[in-house]
Amino acid sequence: MERLKQKIKEEGTVLSNTVLKVDAFLNHQIDPVLMQEIGNTFAELFKGTGVTKIVTLESSGIAPAMMTGLQLGVPVVFARKRKSLTLVDQLLSANVYSYTKNETNEISVSNEYLIKKDKVLIIDDFLANGQAVLGIMNIVEQAGASLAGVGIVIEKGFQDGGEVLRTNGVRVESLAIIDSLQNRNVTFR
Ligand code: G4P
Repeated sequence: MERLKQKIKEEGTVLSNTVLKVDAFLNHQIDPVLMQEIGNTFAELFKGTGVTKIVTLESSGIAPAMMTGLQLGVPVVFARKRKSLTLVDQLLSANVYSYTKNETNEISVSNEYLIKKDKVLIIDDFLANGQAVLGIMNIVEQAGASLAGVGIVIEKGFQDGGEVLRTNGVRVESLAIIDSLQNRNVTFR
């Protein structure tokens, strides 16, 4: 998606050889117009695949997931990282280890909002090692639901999440794939 790549070039900051800061439009401040275009693009890519539900992980996945759900006309569920006071139903849970943060989070979705007949499109902001997506896929499997595919805003192509998922037959659509962040410079695939 050209506009996204342009935005990364103009407003992103390379913090290290592995980390890109995009707080200006995705991870802290959100650009709603860009999010709408992102949602429209995912909706176009996955239309006709029978998606009944979008599933993402709080917090930065919610904006692109929401816009995709709006365009496809399906509900959006976000897996929670913390137990909420109202999350009293039976929970589907998975452990997600973050290599970046060196911590494990238990993520949960109520079985009220993810059921056997659902066909799920997973949306997330970043794909690095793929642990978040694998955790959501585990929850989708526990629900007995099926997977239409995965939509990623920014994939770090130099980390192995994309390869792991694609090798396992998962359809992964990434709107920008970064090949390298070497020398404070963003190179796209
Ligand atoms: P993985 O799920 O692909 O294995 O990713 P990893 O554990 O490495 O990432 C943990 C968190 O860091 C995720 O956000 C992920 O989106 C984010 N992340 C990974 N690499 C980058 C990067 O280069 N730039 C930015 N901006 N984020 C990155 P999270 O903890 O779920 O945070 P949030 O959704 O609450 O914002």
